[in-house]
Amino acid sequence: MRVLVTGGAGFIGANFVQQTVRERPDAEVTVLDALTYAGDRGSLASVAERVTLVEGSITDVALVDRLVGESDVVVHFAAESHNDNSLDDPSPFVQTNLVGTFTLLEAVRKHGTRFHHISTDEVYGDLELDDPAKFTPETPYNPSSPYSSTKAGSDLLVRAWVRSFGVAATISNCSNNYGPYQHVEKFIPRQITNLIDGLRPRLYGAGLNVRDWIHVEDHNAAVWTIIDKGRIGETYLIGADGERNNLEVVRTLLELFGREPDDFDHVADRPGHDLRYAIDATRLRDELGWAPRYTEFKDGLAATIDWYRANEAWWRPAKAATEAKYARTGQ
Ligand code: NAD
Ligand code: DAU
Repeated sequence: MRVLVTGGAGFIGANFVQQTVRERPDAEVTVLDALTYAGDRGSLASVAERVTLVEGSITDVALVDRLVGESDVVVHFAAESHNDNSLDDPSPFVQTNLVGTFTLLEAVRKHGTRFHHISTDEVYGDLELDDPAKFTPETPYNPSSPYSSTKAGSDLLVRAWVRSFGVAATISNCSNNYGPYQHVEKFIPRQITNLIDGLRPRLYGAGLNVRDWIHVEDHNAAVWTIIDKGRIGETYLIGADGERNNLEVVRTLLELFGREPDDFDHVADRPGHDLRYAIDATRLRDELGWAPRYTEFKDGLAATIDWYRANEAWWRPAKAATEAKYARTGQ
């Protein structure tokens, strides 16, 4: 099977490529990645001999047409992915997440190629902290940020291309991922690398916002399950019942580092900060038989800390510039 992975040099995409090379010896993997600040060749170094990395944008019509024409399946991870950046400058989010997805859809329509679109639970907006409800595939779209609204728009494009043009596509909307190779701008790696440097974690606002954490390998196993067994045109929610508020996550990290429970700082909150995400993954579990393997969050976090300790050369070059950017918003 010839697999084209867009955004395969980013966090989830690189883990997906590594997992695919490990578990699917017959897969021929090509990565299309623009190598933005979030993409890193080094994330694919361990599989470089088995993977073709093409540096280019998913908005490049001719390039996308050629690569899609040479593939059996496209797994579309490429995106601008960070909410804070989308508040600073939404423009690349519109280009990559909307125009880029449109460009890929036109190519898969032309070549009749199977397409899997990676999306986020943030398209559903947020839930109240005291609401027992979770997101389901029937929850109305209600995105809050420039990032999540462009992801919601890209999902709707995929749905329209399925219905109007018969494109063979599936969509997955996943909750917050953690694990190796995640950029230091994101919550968990930012706090881990602060703690490695002897600094204090930085908590937005009161820290009561809830995220539904899933290990990146569980996310990617679910993606392959959907490609193998999913129904065309269907949306699958991916989540591992990992709800925790940000304060709890910081306290767990502090404990794993042997630091005091209040050894952190409250900083300026994110404007429009979504309160709570929670995924009901019943369809994926019951219809396709997927189940997460990383069920102990603390163990997964400890393994992630070990990875950041052992791979300082991978994250160190991005750390200072990331913190300088946060300093401008007091975060
Ligand atoms: P990331 O920011 O770590 O990686 C994104 C990758 O896309 C980078 O390698 C970047 O270079 C590449 N890219 C950006 N613009 C491009 C363009 N125009 N053309 C080609 N490549 C481009 O993101 P991530 O956290 O790995 O997220 C991957 C996907 O998963 C995204 O679609 C995101 O919306 C979705 N998602 C992420 C999470 C999460 O917790 N991180 C959860 C659910 C869904
Ligand atoms: O839910 C899925 C989404 O999860 C993905 O679609 C996004 O691509 C991914 O970035 C993530 O979005 P979040 O905005 O939830 O992730 P982030 O890591 O930026 O923040 C997680 C929570 O931690 C959020 O409530 C904000 C808070 N936070 C973040 C940072 C960077 C802090 O309290 N301190 C911080 O320093």
